Amino acid sequence: MKLLIVDATTEAQAFCAKRIEAFNQSDIEMLDLKVKLVGERECVERLHEADVLVLGSGLGDRATALARQANSISPWLHIVMFVTDEAYGGGAFRAAHSVGVRKVFTDSASPLDFLQELVAIHAEFRKEGRTREGRVIAVTHAKGGVGATTIAAALAEVCSVFHRRTMLWDLDVETRDLSRSLTVNGVEAKVVSAWVNGSREISRESLKDALIPISSDVSVLMPPDRMAESMDLVCHTDGMGISQRILELSRVLFDVIIVDTGGRMGPATGAILRGADVVLVVIDDTILGLTAVDLYLTFVKTLVGGVDRIVFLVNPYSGALLGVPQIAAELEPAHNLGEAPWRLPPVPNDPKGALWPGSGRTLYSMGQKSTRVVLEKIARELGILEGSSGSYANGAQSGSVAGGLFQRLFGGKKGASEAVPKE
Ligand SMILES: Nc1ncnc2c1ncn2[C@@H]1O[C@H](COP(=O)(O)OP(=O)(O)OP(=O)(O)O)[C@@H](O)[C@H]1O
Ligand SMILES: [Mg+2]
Repeated sequence: MKLLIVDATTEAQAFCAKRIEAFNQSDIEMLDLKVKLVGERECVERLHEADVLVLGSGLGDRATALARQANSISPWLHIVMFVTDEAYGGGAFRAAHSVGVRKVFTDSASPLDFLQELVAIHAEFRKEGRTREGRVIAVTHAKGGVGATTIAAALAEVCSVFHRRTMLWDLDVETRDLSRSLTVNGVEAKVVSAWVNGSREISRESLKDALIPISSDVSVLMPPDRMAESMDLVCHTDGMGISQRILELSRVLFDVIIVDTGGRMGPATGAILRGADVVLVVIDDTILGLTAVDLYLTFVKTLVGGVDRIVFLVNPYSGALLGVPQIAAELEPAHNLGEAPWRLPPVPNDPKGALWPGSGRTLYSMGQKSTRVVLEKIARELGILEGSSGSYANGAQSGSVAGGLFQRLFGGKKGASEAVPKE
C-alpha cells in the first residue's frame, strides 16, 4: 500500500512519518507499506502513485482544499488527515468529511489508531481485489488417505509450469508427507520452530530463510523441525496468530499459497480455513467417505462461515463407486450446499498415481494426459492460474511437463533461489 505523506515543511513531514516508524515491523510488511514524503507543491503530481494520502497538520486550513483537489483527481484515493488538537476541538473534521477525507486524527492520537485505519483500508483493497495478493487454497480432507497431499503437490506443480510464484505449506506436522514426498528437508525448518517458540519474529526476512525452493517458482514451507514446536503450532491457541501472520505475509510475497493442512483440526488449521480464499475438501467416493464428509461439514461450515468458500474435489482412486452428482445429492438435504461446491471435475484414478512420492515429480507430470488436463482445469477453476493461458497438458504451448518441473531443481537449492521472491 503506497502512502503519500504531505505536509508544509520537511520537519512536519518527518513528524508525520514518525507515526509509521512506531508501527511494528511485521505490520509494515503485511500492509506492504511504501511511504513517500512530499511538500504541497509536489503533491498533485505524485497523487497517481498513491493509495492513501496523509495530510499533515502543518497544512492547516489548506488541507481541506488539497483534499478536495486530490479527490477530484483520484476519486479512488483514501485520504487521512491529521489536525492539531485545537483544530480538532474546533470541529475541523466536519469540513474534512465533506471533501472526501475518510478519517481525521489529532496529532496526539495513538499511532495504533492510525494503524487500525490503514488495516481497514487494506482490508477494503483486498475485498475489491486492489492489492496484488496471493490466493490461499487450504487443502483438507474429512477422512485420511483420500489424496489431499497428492492434490496439493500436483497443484503446486501446475503452478510451477505456469510460472505462478507459489508457496506450498506442509502443515501435516506428524507425517510430513508433503515434505517427504518432495524429499524436502533442511535447516530451514528450524526457522519455523523459532517462530513458534518465539525466538524469531515472523518477518519477510525470516520467511525467506524458512522457505525451501523446489523449482524456479515454487517453495516449500516445512513443519517445525522439532516435535514440541510442531505440536504447539497445531494444538496451542498461539498457533492461530502464528498461522495468520504466516498467511498474511506469504500473500504479499506469493501469487498462490497451497496449504496441506493434513486434515487435523486445531487452532492453526481453523485460522487457515477461515482465512483461505478456497477450502478445498478432497473426498473419495466411498460410503465411509460420504458419511465422514457429512460429519465434517456440520462443524466446518460453522468454522468457515458458510459454504461459499468450500469446494469439493472428488478423488475416486478407490474405484469410482459413487459419482459426483450422487455424492452431491446425498449431502444436499442435510447441508444445502447448492451446485457451486461441486463444480470441480473429479480426478481420474491414475495408474501412476501412487508413484510420485520421492520421484521429484507429482501426479501432474507423472500422470496420464487426461489427469494432467483435469488438474489444469481444477487449477483454473480455483483461480490460481489467473493471467496465464494455454495448456501444457494438451501440448498447446511450447515446453512440456514430461521432465517434471520439480525434478530439475530437485533435492537442493541450487539454481532455485529465484523461487523466493525478492521484493
Ligand atoms: N488420483 C489418484 N490416482 C491414483 N492414486 C492416487 C490418486 N490420488 C492419490 N493417490 C495415492 O493414494 C495414496 C494416498 O494419497 P495421499 O497421501 O495424498 O492422501 P492424503 O489424503 O494426504 O492422506 P493422509 O491422511 O495420510 O494425509 C498415495 O499413495 C497417493 O499417491
Ligand atoms: Mg496427506
